[in-house]
Amino acid sequence: METLYWKDNKLYLLDQTLIPRDIKYCECLTYEDVIDAIKTMKVRGAPAIGVAAAYAMALAECHNVNLDEAAVKIKQARPTAINLFWAVDEVLKAVDSGCSAIDAANKMYNDDIKVNEKIGEYGNTVIDDGDTILTHCNAGALACAGYGTALGVIRTAHNSGKNISVICDETRPLFQGGRLSVFEMQQENIPVQLIVDSAAGFMMQQGKVDKVVIGADRVAEGGVANKIGSLMVAVAANRYDIPFYVAAPISTFDFENNIFDTTIEQRDKNEVLCINDKFIANENTEVSNPAFDIVESDLITGIITEEGIKKPF
Ligand code: MRU
Repeated sequence: METLYWKDNKLYLLDQTLIPRDIKYCECLTYEDVIDAIKTMKVRGAPAIGVAAAYAMALAECHNVNLDEAAVKIKQARPTAINLFWAVDEVLKAVDSGCSAIDAANKMYNDDIKVNEKIGEYGNTVIDDGDTILTHCNAGALACAGYGTALGVIRTAHNSGKNISVICDETRPLFQGGRLSVFEMQQENIPVQLIVDSAAGFMMQQGKVDKVVIGADRVAEGGVANKIGSLMVAVAANRYDIPFYVAAPISTFDFENNIFDTTIEQRDKNEVLCINDKFIANENTEVSNPAFDIVESDLITGIITEEGIKKPF
């Protein structure tokens, strides 16, 4: 099952808002369709957003849209994952040097999978036979062109014959852990247990977690931005001396800014107020819905990249 694919000058995205109930692709005919799919999270996860943005540039090229103007609009789709900005700039650079946007996007797609396999290999060196690994949100094949970062590490460890199991935080408000990570693990028969987010600390206190591996939307001086709830998991892991790893490609690194300069996306209040379109609290309730938080460097054991395991900076 592919997260996204390009065919006959159209982009097809596996609609992640429907998984696991429905497996359906949405067809993007224009770059504006891709922007809409990113905003509504039909495609989500930092590397997948980046690759989709690259194909949005390809669609703009197909329809003779000015690429600089398309780039500005695509970059406004979501603010936190740096891969979005990186991908659009990479396509602009490639086009400047005479390559087509489609070729640049195809290359980014293929590179993303290779990079994730490398991350898996390095990550596997810190996973022991018998480990139970807790993960938050979805940093799997669905969050990338394929294979995954954090779940890529888990995949590689499992495929290398290690007897590992996974605990997925459900990841409120949109349940990327419960809906997507659990789905990916079940597809590959990797033993998986689902917990509510607030159970993570207790599982650690009970000695049920050997390692934490999560993904990242941005890595920069001072720490890592990732799905809301990552900070609580990191603090609890630190309390119980549990190694806490972040798996992310170098394209997720921001070498220019401090992590606290990252714009943290605030999303619609109904994501918190409703589950499956049903209100679980009074409709008029005031809500804060930050989609990401920041894990400070001193809480992170290592950052697993395609170039090896790096110390946070
Ligand atoms: O809001 P989302 O679902 O796009 O958030 C995704 C995450 O936080 C992932 O952990 C991150 O993008 C890494 S994906 C390899």
